[in-house]
Amino acid sequence: MSEIRFGFIGSGKISHFSAEALLRHPQAKLVAAQDLNEERVDDLADKFDIKHRFANSSELFACPEVDAVYIAVPNKFHAPLAIEAMRAGKHVLLEKPFAMNTAEAEEVIRVSKETGRVFTLGMNQRFNEDSQKIKAIAAGGALGDIYYAKAYWFRREGIPKLGTWFGNKALAGAGAINDIGVHLLDLCLHTMDNFDPVSVFGTTYTKFGNRGLGEGGWGLSDSTDTTFDVDDLASALIKMRNGATVSLEVSWAAHMGERERTDVELYGTEMGASMYPAKLYKRDPYDADYQVVENVAAQAALPHCDRFHNFINHLLDGEPLLVTPDQALVVQKILDAVAVSTRTGKSVEL
Ligand SMILES: NC(=O)c1ccc[n+]([C@@H]2O[C@H](COP(=O)([O-])OP(=O)(O)OC[C@H]3O[C@@H](n4cnc5c(N)ncnc54)[C@H](O)[C@@H]3O)[C@@H](O)[C@H]2O)c1
Repeated sequence: MSEIRFGFIGSGKISHFSAEALLRHPQAKLVAAQDLNEERVDDLADKFDIKHRFANSSELFACPEVDAVYIAVPNKFHAPLAIEAMRAGKHVLLEKPFAMNTAEAEEVIRVSKETGRVFTLGMNQRFNEDSQKIKAIAAGGALGDIYYAKAYWFRREGIPKLGTWFGNKALAGAGAINDIGVHLLDLCLHTMDNFDPVSVFGTTYTKFGNRGLGEGGWGLSDSTDTTFDVDDLASALIKMRNGATVSLEVSWAAHMGERERTDVELYGTEMGASMYPAKLYKRDPYDADYQVVENVAAQAALPHCDRFHNFINHLLDGEPLLVTPDQALVVQKILDAVAVSTRTGKSVEL
């Protein structure tokens, strides 16, 4: 194979950004697009000169000119469409979150193994230069034992367009935690190289979207349903088997000073680190002052900062996938546990 021909399932907001990213790869082609909304297919296809336009996903999966699909639709359809695509012989790059629950995610992995199709998730935060640098430093052991981590993404007014699928539990599964929390949780576990949680205590709140407040406006879907029954703030304490603790905090809407606050902070026995921007915190015994290193020098693991490049390079040349299905499954298990813990008021043993 000298190129990978893509079909896009879902022609919503993120698909426009994803098409740009995909087409930066010299061996990628975008040959087909689909959406239930024909106008949105036309908008995407006109903008990126896409040859085939479909209203039905099965038609795109049957298209022999498509080698791989990118799926970016409401979360409820992630697992069923990924499974159908792989059964039709296509490799899959699926948007986050993985699925509506762990059982669905496990079925996707089973079908990937059964069909031999490549499956990965678009956890784009793992790819940017800052996070790759901190990952490289942590992997080299310089932080020592990472015993505590804080992953947070707080937005003051960042709820996607109200009245769309994003705020509806039946279509989205969960709110802020599925939308932005999943990114930072995934990035935190990846950087710690620790995907072995043993218990989760979580709590979620619905305080803004249900009152028609806190909208940020993301998304191209139409507002059709006024039901908002997902979290707009969530937090969790995750205990790992090696004794480390991860604190996850996320909000789509909250009263706070800044418009947005996001980072992953790692606390190690030898050094601390934060991701956005990459910084290190340490005491060198020969320096009088405590050091905050702002220009972090480290070699990123990948020669690019892009999930599409990783997926395509993997298919063409075997570049290792940065996001493996088994790691994504652990993240899904934690998200499920937060929901159970919120409902029961108790911590969940994994
Ligand atoms: N990686 C990221 O940073 C990132 C950012 C935004 C969104 N996302 C994810 O991408 C996905 C799409 O989000 P978006 O922001 O583009 O939403 P959006 O509302 O803008 O677009 C969703 C599109 O899916 C279409 N759709 C609905 N059901 C469908 C189906 N069964 N088959 C085909 N198309 C269908 C809708 O008509 C709509 O055009 C979500 O899973 C979201 O979590 C990821």
